[in-house]
Amino acid sequence: MKNLLITGGMGYVGSFTSQLIKKKYSKIISIDNLSRANLYSKKFCINYKVNLDDEKKIKKILIKHKIKTVFHLAAYTCVRESLKKKKLYKKINFIDQINFINLCKSVKIKNFIFSSSLSIYDKSNIKKDLSPYSKYKLKIENYLKKKSSKNFKVLILRYPNVSGASLKGDLGDRNFHISRIFKIVYSKIIRNKKITIFLDKKKNFPIRNYIHVLDIAKLNLEMIKMINYQKKSFMIYNIQSNLNLSNLDITKKIFSYLKKKTTIDYKLINKFESLSTIKKKDNFISKNFSFKNSTINIITKSNLLWFRNKINKTYF
Ligand SMILES: NC(=O)c1ccc[n+]([C@@H]2O[C@H](COP(=O)([O-])OP(=O)(O)OC[C@H]3O[C@@H](n4cnc5c(N)ncnc54)[C@H](O)[C@@H]3O)[C@@H](O)[C@H]2O)c1
Repeated sequence: MKNLLITGGMGYVGSFTSQLIKKKYSKIISIDNLSRANLYSKKFCINYKVNLDDEKKIKKILIKHKIKTVFHLAAYTCVRESLKKKKLYKKINFIDQINFINLCKSVKIKNFIFSSSLSIYDKSNIKKDLSPYSKYKLKIENYLKKKSSKNFKVLILRYPNVSGASLKGDLGDRNFHISRIFKIVYSKIIRNKKITIFLDKKKNFPIRNYIHVLDIAKLNLEMIKMINYQKKSFMIYNIQSNLNLSNLDITKKIFSYLKKKTTIDYKLINKFESLSTIKKKDNFISKNFSFKNSTINIITKSNLLWFRNKINKTYF
């Protein structure tokens, strides 16, 4: 793990991944501009507060630490925000990403792991009408495919919805710019406010696949180990647990945990927020990962513990 650099190491997925690596090996190097970061994860990695577009500084870091493998997580992550701030997403999630990839190639990084998203799918098809967030993920995937070679191995992981917190509730998601369903429902219930749940035209509740952040961290670690001995120069995997949930399932579960209810308002869904589950056919990681924390009970319980944590008082 000595030659590993993580980008976005202070973010949600990045903190859990660095925490696990620190537990098993040692602290890794991270670059994160802290724009959306989780400051509590400082102790898990050595972070350089650098913007992804700062080529000079990043080049120095890559060379100084003899980095060979890059685990690339840094990006803006909100589908809804990307619809409102298209220019910003083009800069952060496309232009800066392409430049960063080229920089990694120029300093002879051997392995590059990119976290993409299942949000590019509508059931098992690539969506025709993608949000800017998903469109740029797909563009970067295609760019990486073109750039991959035996000297620049690329592994793409398409994550589903990541959720949950540490089992004690002392580490979780602190990105204030994204409204995730568990957080929204919790904050509405404690304020006695109405919850809006979306339905599609056929009056079905859209289902999304969920994975616990601890399971994603474990998977990330396995992937970091795996890419080193893989002969293929380009790999792409869809990650999916067995946990498919609608927002109504989640709301009811939180009602039952809190022993408290509020009114539900039903609305027609926005086209960009449809399904993210896909058929388990091609492209799944062949190894049998047991996503043992990816259950509705563990995800709900750990999220609620995290939300109630005093660190988050200002959050709600
Ligand atoms: N969390 C999910 O449900 C989910 C699902 C699918 C894919 N992903 C992908 O996984 C990755 C990590 O997601 P996350 O939930 O941990 O997000 P996050 O926002 O919690 O973490 C991203 C980190 O990157 C940093 N960052 C953002 N832009 C940067 C820039 N230009 N320069 C330097 N640092 C920058 C932020 O400060 C933040 O700490 C993202 O690429 C995201 O698209 C996440």
